Amino acid sequence: MMIKVIILGGGNVAMHLAHVFIKAHEIKLVQVFNRTLTSIENLKEHTAITDNLKKIKKADIYIISVSDSAIKLVASKLKINNALVVHTSGSSSIAVLKDHKRSGVFYPLQTFSKNRKIDFSNIPLCIEATHSKDLLLLQQLAMKISKTYYHIDSEQRKKLHTAAVFVNNFVNHLYYLGGEICTKYNIESDILRPLIKETADKALDISPLDAQTGPARRGDTITFKKHLTNLTPDQQEIYKLLSHSISKTYGKKL
Ligand SMILES: NC(=O)c1ccc[n+]([C@@H]2O[C@H](COP(=O)([O-])OP(=O)(O)OC[C@H]3O[C@@H](n4cnc5c(N)ncnc54)[C@H](OP(=O)(O)O)[C@@H]3O)[C@@H](O)[C@H]2O)c1
Repeated sequence: MMIKVIILGGGNVAMHLAHVFIKAHEIKLVQVFNRTLTSIENLKEHTAITDNLKKIKKADIYIISVSDSAIKLVASKLKINNALVVHTSGSSSIAVLKDHKRSGVFYPLQTFSKNRKIDFSNIPLCIEATHSKDLLLLQQLAMKISKTYYHIDSEQRKKLHTAAVFVNNFVNHLYYLGGEICTKYNIESDILRPLIKETADKALDISPLDAQTGPARRGDTITFKKHLTNLTPDQQEIYKLLSHSISKTYGKKL
């Protein structure tokens, strides 16, 4: 079954979705809207583009993929007849689309940046809809572009988004801080790259609980105290907080 889709937004997620829909079988990307035309201009040869919400065409599913703070506004300006409207946000409830009779969520659990290629087929798609028929429709859309989808309601999605902040945003920030410490002591931060890669690979292979190493897991108070002397006050706070979380997990004291 061919599914006709319109995307509203021209940011990271919107552009990734647009490219994957263009390539997918049995999905027709009818149009892309963005308030700034320049960022979606390169889609012109594949689909219709517009910066005017009054010129929105007909489709089966309208995907609003704009900044969280603008979803409600764009949804309220979108005047369509009884079609399904979804957003792609991890932190916004389905209720922000309540102006529309048929609403849903199509949240890809992945981190997107515009110029980074990503294999969509491995991305878990978290779907939710107010009507069971629409959940089926989103399921069909999901299956055309990815190997995995999950039914996740708005309450669960908020929790999932919190978990995602831990495994993505926080871990990434720790990579950054590790690099800063190297630079401060005249060590090339690239030296950490193989360690970053092996840490992620090992956690996936044998579970994060089994993969943990280091002074906090061993309850090595001497090293713990020595490390603190190399750090700024802010870094010390983070080091202490994470070390205590680790030592507690393994029943050790620092
Ligand atoms: N990035 C991720 O890794 C990621 C992952 C999963 C889900 N999400 C979710 O996907 C959605 C889009 O995120 P993103 O990272 O793709 O955003 P983004 O790259 O920051 O792009 C923001 C988009 O929102 C539009 N916009 C902002 N304010 C607007 C307004 N007042 N009226 C109309 N349009 C407005 C921008 O238009 P202009 O181009 O005109 O500025 C742009 O198209 C969000 O709900 C986000 O939570 C993001």
